[in-house]
Amino acid sequence: MNKKRRVLLLKGLVWLLCLAPGVWLVWRGFTDRLGANAIEEVLHRLGDTSLVILLVTLSITPIRRLTGWNDLAPLRRPLGLFAFFYLTTHFLWYAVVDEGLAFEFIVEDVIERPYILAGFTAWLMLIPLAITSTKGWIRRLKKNWQKLHRLVYVATGLGVLHFYWQVKADTYWPLVATTVLVALMLLRIRQARRPSQRSLAD
Ligand code: HEM
Repeated sequence: MNKKRRVLLLKGLVWLLCLAPGVWLVWRGFTDRLGANAIEEVLHRLGDTSLVILLVTLSITPIRRLTGWNDLAPLRRPLGLFAFFYLTTHFLWYAVVDEGLAFEFIVEDVIERPYILAGFTAWLMLIPLAITSTKGWIRRLKKNWQKLHRLVYVATGLGVLHFYWQVKADTYWPLVATTVLVALMLLRIRQARRPSQRSLAD
């Protein structure tokens, strides 16, 4: 199979896997399977999904450099945009459905609850990254594009912090997310120092 076909197949798989959690939530909503607190359940599942897709997006480059499997590179954009899509839905669900678009409460939450501030800052940081993810912007920004897109690590770190702060007792999953993020960052730093692995990058 030629490269174009392989990448198309992988992209199709990404679309299927990324759409599945959303379709699953909608199906649960229509069949009344969201439990007693449906609003909170949707908010939480959208948050989980965003974070998982963000971490998968960050794992693409380290895996590609470790294995030399360059077909993975074109998957970063759809994965990143799916993470941003779920995150925006997570934010809108909170603002519109949970808070009923009551701006005074939303502003109060952002100011007074550190975990909301962390999540909100992360979401704001990801907006310019989503906008500049096109080929045109990559060309226009040249080296600055890479510098700008390193912000994704800060945003994901804030997302993990947001997750950690809002759980009441069970910190298992926030700790798993922290471990994965730290491992990915260490791997990136190590690979950046090794020219032999860097040469596999696009
Ligand atoms: C990178 C950005 C963000 C990520 C990765 C993220 C992720 C998450 C995760 C994983 C959860 C917990 C789900 C669970 O318990 O299983 C969550 C909960 C929540 N998130 Fe976010 N989120 C982000 C941004 C935001 C933003 C921008 C807002 C609103 C301004 C927000 C509001 C909330 C709220 C209200 C909860 C529920 C907290 C509770 O039940 O007390 N998040 N988020």
